[in-house]
Amino acid sequence: KSHPLGASYVPSDLVILDYELTNGRKLVQLDRTAADALTAMMLCMRADGIDDVFVTSGYRSYEYQQILFNTYLGNEMKKHPDWTVEQCRAEVLTYSALPGESEHQTGLCLDLISTGNVVLDETFADNPAYAWLTENAHNFGFILRYPKDKTYITGIIYEPWHYRYVGKELAQEIHELGDITLEEYIQ
Ligand code: DAL
Ligand code: ZN
Repeated sequence: KSHPLGASYVPSDLVILDYELTNGRKLVQLDRTAADALTAMMLCMRADGIDDVFVTSGYRSYEYQQILFNTYLGNEMKKHPDWTVEQCRAEVLTYSALPGESEHQTGLCLDLISTGNVVLDETFADNPAYAWLTENAHNFGFILRYPKDKTYITGIIYEPWHYRYVGKELAQEIHELGDITLEEYIQ
């Protein structure tokens, strides 16, 4: 939130993820280095018997994040007819970034879903994939970006489905420090 990207920022080396990783979902893009690391991680996860987890979102453009944010805002306004727009906006900000402030625009992060549970909520943590990722994601350069009970630091609710590529070295260091947040690491 404190390091926004410009509206025109598009990562320079985006690749389209293999449909094998997206369960056929078309045109899910990621930065090439992150995509290679993700492919290696998912192959390893599959080899360990977890084959029900797929990427549902990767790179998102500024414009798409704008559409998402406005959609969420509309949903909150419908859900809470007695709230002001500002109250609804504050609610959306707990789970969605504003355009320019989503790390999805960097092409370095992704959201996972399980075929048995397609909603993005805390129940993703009940999937064996989550336990696997907790054990292994750092070895492939990924961190859980919005951990449980760290909302006061990240400003975002617990998102067990959202992983950020930071590179192996940094991910391992963050893991050894007790799976701290990126904010804490940078501090
Ligand atoms: N859900 C995360 C915070 C995003 O919108 O980037
Ligand atoms: Zn996400």
